[in-house]
Formats: sequence, structure tokens, C-alpha cells
Amino acid sequence: MARRKIIAGNWKMNMTPSEAKALVETLKDLVNNPEVDVVYCVPAIDIVPVVEAVKGTNVEVGAENMYIEEKGAYTGEIAPAMIVDAGAKYVIIGHSERREYFNETDEFLNKKVLKAFEHGLTPILCCGESLEQREAGVTLDWIRLQIKSDLQNVTAEQAASMVIAYEPIWAIGTGKTATTEQAQEVCKAIRETIAEIYDEATAESIRIQYGGSMNAKNCDELLAQPDIDGGLIGGASLKPDFGRIVNYQK
Ligand code: PGA
Repeated sequence: MARRKIIAGNWKMNMTPSEAKALVETLKDLVNNPEVDVVYCVPAIDIVPVVEAVKGTNVEVGAENMYIEEKGAYTGEIAPAMIVDAGAKYVIIGHSERREYFNETDEFLNKKVLKAFEHGLTPILCCGESLEQREAGVTLDWIRLQIKSDLQNVTAEQAASMVIAYEPIWAIGTGKTATTEQAQEVCKAIRETIAEIYDEATAESIRIQYGGSMNAKNCDELLAQPDIDGGLIGGASLKPDFGRIVNYQK
């Protein structure tokens, strides 16, 4: 069975609640594609207004981060139940910016993945190599290691329902996109890793996105690759270009 494409915007630390509502309004008619799952992953403070603003459309909402505890004395953190109650369905876990600036380790991210599933949230788990790793030729080994560590104790059924985003760190926000061959090669390796950990059926079902300077110009070619099931879009998700990506040409 063909996998349904999933195009997710990662707004990062952009958009005040009022700006968020205005952006949803601007994009409303542009992101209308019933054949594609569309998600806006937004700052925690924007989740409630954005959920409200997308009512009646095909767009779902996601959080950009989440804590691993249920509730309590963790000043400044966001509990999974808060995200669910606010109406979001997805959560980005392990974005390279979280790994780098907030020292999130694979062990910690594994706890987040398990916690997200406990609450019925769909994780969009990010992985990706640095430029040094790519130049040293260790990309595939690194990605396999990240996936295996982050998915400890995740069941096959859970894995089948989740999303993995391959985002080469050197391509994020730099305007440098991986070539379609590079992106396809790593996404295929991720699928093979899932088959190795679980089985073929799980590997066939899991959705794998490419992320890193995906835009209106390069999306068609990237999304035509057999193992690329969508995109995680940063910069271009804040512009009408996002609608062009959602309506990529087959
Ligand atoms: P970018 O970001 O599209 O701006 O490169 C992608 C991401 O970090 O998810």
C-alpha cells in the first residue's frame, strides 16, 4: 500500500500568537490538498490559537518539543498531557537544534518518544549528520545508531505509526539542500534499519521525511524519491511557498 505523504512545517521560535493566526489565514487556501497530511508544528504558546484557527481544514497541529514527566516541579517545561489537551496530535522529538543547543541525548530522546506514545501523540523523530560526519564517510553508521538508540523499547506497532525526519545538519537553514541522491540514500538506509529492528511490514509503513532547506523549487524532485514520504520544512513553512510544497507536482 502506498504511504500517504506528510508535509510538516516546523515554525521553530517564530510567530507570536497573533502572527500565528494571521499566517494560518494566509496559508488557508494554499495548503488544501486532501491527498497529503499537513501539519503545523508550532511554539507551545501558539498551539491553542493555531488549533482554533485550523478548525474545519485538513491541517493538524504539532508541538516542537515536550518534557518526559507527567507533571510537577519542572519550571518552564511542557507536559505531554498539556499538548494533547490543547489539541495537538504530533510532536517533534530530537531536532538537531534541541540536540545541539539543549544537549538532548539519545537516551533522553528515547524517553520522550516512549512518553509521546503513552499519550497518543505521533512523534516526528529527527536524525541527521553534521558536515564533518558526512565528509568522514560515517553518515549511514551515525544515522543507524541514532535510530536504534532513540527507538529502544518502542513496539513495532508504534514504530509503524510514527514519522522519522532525516535532516542533515549542514542543510538546515543554510539554503544548501542535500542532493536527491543523498536524501534518498539516507532515507532508504533508515527504512532498512527499521526492517532490521522490526520487520518489513513496519518498514513499509513508517513514514520518512526529508528536511533541510526544502523549498518550492526542490520539493518535487525530493518528494518523487521512493523512500521520501514527506518533508519537515523550516524557513519555507512561514511563507506561501509552503502551499506549493503541499501541492508538489507528481
Ligand atoms: P529549514 O529547516 O527548512 O529552514 O532548513 C528545516 C528544519 O530544521 O526542520
